[in-house]
Amino acid sequence: MTVTHHASAGILSDQHAAKREEIVELLTTAYWMEIETVTNYLAQSRNLDGIRAKDVADDLAADVTEELGHATLFAERIKDLYGTVPGSADFPRDYDQGLQPNGDPTDLVSVIKGVIDAESGAISHYTRIIEATDGVDWATQDMVIAILRDEEGHMRTYERYLREFS
Ligand SMILES: [Fe+2]
Ligand SMILES: [Fe+2]
Repeated sequence: MTVTHHASAGILSDQHAAKREEIVELLTTAYWMEIETVTNYLAQSRNLDGIRAKDVADDLAADVTEELGHATLFAERIKDLYGTVPGSADFPRDYDQGLQPNGDPTDLVSVIKGVIDAESGAISHYTRIIEATDGVDWATQDMVIAILRDEEGHMRTYERYLREFS
């Protein structure tokens, strides 16, 4: 298959082919991180039991939609940069331990800590993308800055929950 590139400036241009590949790889990791939060937040929002857990469970359920929105944005950007969005066969094996169900549906604190870990990982990785795109791929950078802001909001929400419940 021949791909014809027409842009003479910016990240779509031939002169930035190597940088573009690097960014697609970073975006693919970000895509999987989002998909992982979708599966784990969905599971834990339903697994949690009890009155005390209700607000956290409801918040997690709402976040599933938001994280799926992030995954969709990453997928669109991968495609725009001449990449291919992967399928489930490529699902990473180094999954997030912190959000695996531990058999105790009332263990609210471990779920909150798991969410904080996941958000912290996202914040680190997205900061890296913002740095990698600086000066060469403004559109990806702009998109990831907006997503970073969402993740920082999630982080603060669950930090407040942690203070309240532990
Ligand atoms: Fe996200
Ligand atoms: Fe998040």
